[in-house]
Amino acid sequence: MSAKTFNELAQGYDEDPRRQQTAEAISRAILRLVPLSEDTEVLECGAGTGLLTVLLAPKVKRVLATDASEGMLSVLREKLSRLGLCNVDTDLYDPTGQSMESSFGLLVASMLLHHIPDTEGVLRRFYGTLSPNGWVAIADLEEEDGSFHSPGMPKPAYYGFNRCNVVKSLEAAGFCDVYIETVHVAVKNERQYPIFLAVAKRGR
Ligand SMILES: C[S@@+](CC[C@H](N)C(=O)[O-])C[C@H]1O[C@@H](n2cnc3c(N)ncnc32)[C@H](O)[C@@H]1O
Repeated sequence: MSAKTFNELAQGYDEDPRRQQTAEAISRAILRLVPLSEDTEVLECGAGTGLLTVLLAPKVKRVLATDASEGMLSVLREKLSRLGLCNVDTDLYDPTGQSMESSFGLLVASMLLHHIPDTEGVLRRFYGTLSPNGWVAIADLEEEDGSFHSPGMPKPAYYGFNRCNVVKSLEAAGFCDVYIETVHVAVKNERQYPIFLAVAKRGR
């Protein structure tokens, strides 16, 4: 079976309730670990259909939800209008290609990193988009055996990450006060897939 692209998956993406459960667990952990306020401006990379976006948006000033897939963003825009969420903008953006000329208080990337071959390069780019004392929050799969993505899904660059290596990569990109914990365990075909959230600060 050939792998589908995210554009092709977009319309049916939210049909799997496990994705919603994962986004809820990640959102709860971000709200617990990152001091957000009504002044916080958030850049989300790889926002997809916005499962996490719509949970964070009511807690902050504004979210710029970005993704490299127009199909995913189109589903997200429909969702925003259905929910009447007015503080979310969307943009087609691939952080591996372009830098973002702005300074955000929080950068969020959920289940994106395993699709990006140059992990350290993209973390450096994330660092550059944050304001002094800004936060990064990265959620992704912990190391797995390659069975998480079924044959029809986009092929990942990594089968999850070793948590110690995530901490080292964030520090190598310049981040400080790195903290990581397992925030959810997704279950698929009776197998367990732990998902971590790493948060860190840009410093001054
Ligand atoms: C597994 S989905 C996660 C979506 C969403 N963050 C969530 O947790 O439900 C990965 C998303 O990353 C996007 N993506 C993959 N590679 C990307 C890249 N290089 N730049 C921006 N987005 C990318 C895909 O289009 C897809 O929407």
